[in-house]
Amino acid sequence: MKSILVVGASSAIAQALIEKLEGAGAKVFSVSLTMLNRNNHTQLHYSEESISAWCDSMRRDGHELSHIYIFNGILHTESISPEKSITSFRKDAFYEVLQCNTVTPMWWLMNVTKLVPKGSESVVTLLSARIGSISDNRLGGWYSYRASKAALNMLTKTAAIEIRRTHKQCKFLLFHPGTTDSKLSKPFQKNVPEGKLFSPEFVAENLVSLSMDHSILPDCGFYDWNKKPIPF
Ligand SMILES: NC(=O)c1ccc[n+]([C@@H]2O[C@H](COP(=O)([O-])OP(=O)(O)OC[C@H]3O[C@@H](n4cnc5c(N)ncnc54)[C@H](OP(=O)(O)O)[C@@H]3O)[C@@H](O)[C@H]2O)c1
Repeated sequence: MKSILVVGASSAIAQALIEKLEGAGAKVFSVSLTMLNRNNHTQLHYSEESISAWCDSMRRDGHELSHIYIFNGILHTESISPEKSITSFRKDAFYEVLQCNTVTPMWWLMNVTKLVPKGSESVVTLLSARIGSISDNRLGGWYSYRASKAALNMLTKTAAIEIRRTHKQCKFLLFHPGTTDSKLSKPFQKNVPEGKLFSPEFVAENLVSLSMDHSILPDCGFYDWNKKPIPF
């Protein structure tokens, strides 16, 4: 196992993942808007320039990463709630969700080739959501979040085709964690059926097991916490 990068490291699932990876002896670099009390951590205000510069410095220092995990995602903020109806759609809220859930991960994908080796296996995982599946959309609602994850899926699939021309052993995983106990799901937990609200530790365990199994992953796959493929 080479070094590992976790972006959006303040996420509840990311925290559980870091603990598992470090427990298994991995060297984990982390990046977050928040200053976290751990080694190899960078507090970064995400911008195209700061992300590119951070990746340049990793390359200059000779770090090669076998796994990258990108966690960034918001569903609600103090001023944003997921839309129940099309009449609640607001451009500014949509742009804010899109910036966090889609554009910031894209800025990392733009720099992936600085970080992963050309000649050995790597996996880049992005936290998506089943709700971003266009073919699985039966319920409607949550326009901005849904669209931001659908766009994330399409952009990742497209980037994977390009990046794999030079980095043939780099695979891409769009991961749906299931409803997980975190800040993101807090306001929506009361309707979750018994046994269907997962702990971050349970999800992190399943994510490690899936993302470390390079041989079973397709070039770019969309999978749930139970290792089941989700149709795009
Ligand atoms: N929890 C669930 O039920 C569930 C279900 C399906 C999918 N997911 C996905 O899983 C991922 C992790 O979510 P979580 O449940 O662990 O939620 P969480 O604990 O609330 O984590 C929030 C994440 O969003 C990032 N973030 C917050 N504000 C941001 C901003 N303005 N710009 C960029 N990044 C920002 C944080 O990164 P920093 O550390 O940089 O602040 C962190 O990675 C998300 O992508 C989410 O969509 C979660």
